[in-house]
Amino acid sequence: MNAYDIILKKRRGAKLTEDELRFMTIGFTKGDIPDYQMSAFLMAVCFNSLDTEETRALTLAMMNSGEVYSISREVGGICIDKHSTGGVGDKTTLVVAPVCAACGVYVPKMSGRGLGHTGGTIDKLESIPGFLTDITHSQFVKIVRETGFSVMSQTKDLVPADRKIYALRDVTATVDSIPLICSSIMSKKLALGADGIVLDVKVGSGAFMKTVPEAEKLAESMLSLAKEFKKRSAALISDMEMPLGRAVGNALEVAESCDVLKGRTKGALRDVCVDLASNMLYIAGKGDIESCREMANKAIDSGKAFECFERSVSMQGGNTQALHKYSLMGKAADTAVVYAPSEGYISAIDAEGTGLAALALGAGRRRKGDAVDHTAGIRLLKTVGDYVYEGDEIATLYTSSKADTEQIAADFQRYVLITVSQPRRREHIFSVLRA
Ligand code: URA
Repeated sequence: MNAYDIILKKRRGAKLTEDELRFMTIGFTKGDIPDYQMSAFLMAVCFNSLDTEETRALTLAMMNSGEVYSISREVGGICIDKHSTGGVGDKTTLVVAPVCAACGVYVPKMSGRGLGHTGGTIDKLESIPGFLTDITHSQFVKIVRETGFSVMSQTKDLVPADRKIYALRDVTATVDSIPLICSSIMSKKLALGADGIVLDVKVGSGAFMKTVPEAEKLAESMLSLAKEFKKRSAALISDMEMPLGRAVGNALEVAESCDVLKGRTKGALRDVCVDLASNMLYIAGKGDIESCREMANKAIDSGKAFECFERSVSMQGGNTQALHKYSLMGKAADTAVVYAPSEGYISAIDAEGTGLAALALGAGRRRKGDAVDHTAGIRLLKTVGDYVYEGDEIATLYTSSKADTEQIAADFQRYVLITVSQPRRREHIFSVLRA
């Protein structure tokens, strides 16, 4: 067996065997197959795809490239994992995990850092002074057991194949392939070994999937794998045409999540978080979907979810004062206001454009390993559906780096569409699929 023949076979559109997919995955992870051959292979997959059996074989090979845990057994209770395919202003984990924990469902969550225009949960949590995301597996299990949830950075020994393959996909324009995304996400979820998984598949300009049918195809592919591995699962297809909530940027998003957990903020972010949490509670067997929704809302309104958040942050070394006094997460050195260029209804705020503006302010990283400015980001003062007059303040930009805020403000104005007619109300969740 050799890499050349396997690349050629896939380039010609033929079906690969389980052995061939394992050979490519393990060979590349060990360093026996060079980047240029793996890049060609990934591109061939992008063009000719993988069928269900091939996707399953690739996922299995990736999952077995490192440690395989049984987190539910280690924690000693029902554990439900969650994964978002990534977006702008997507801080749902910070709300959903403590909500589920407050309702008696464990949430062990391994998360990533942001890259490009999308944010990462680990960067957001590191805005809290002292918060440690690089904890050991046994600390992780202990925090989940004692507080109901923990979020840590993905360890090097969990699916090392994905670490290497994802880094290569990122620079070879091979990220947005359904079987590659499916195997990347599901290998990590299966390797952790929770009882169930809720997937938040984002769709729109700020997401990998640009249309609902594409997102549903990805969701179905992940759900069918979950079913095969006897995992309870659900997938929510959610809107990423505009940023989720009002804040984009690490510390700003932690503050917004705290406001939701304290019951102070209603709207799209809370709605999406309650939908995700109720699906997690539902697949954990907590009741029918309506009673799970009620439970999730009660966990927020009673303050129990916020207490869980405080407990987990504290056990992870974070200063919980910062969850009350947000300025303890740092204050941006520079701010700028974005004004409405005309009068009318805000009809769209482009998610990708907003993410790129936040990146330019220093909130994200262009390359893996770049430092992020935790104070940087954008706060939307107006949102889709609001009526504005020319010169009204529509957003505030924050940065502590040497970003050209004037230029970014001018760019951001172009991402906000203002129309004479009132826009139609957009759904936050387009559909829910269950295995
Ligand atoms: N998130 C992942 O973990 N992997 C992908 O391929 C895309 C999104």
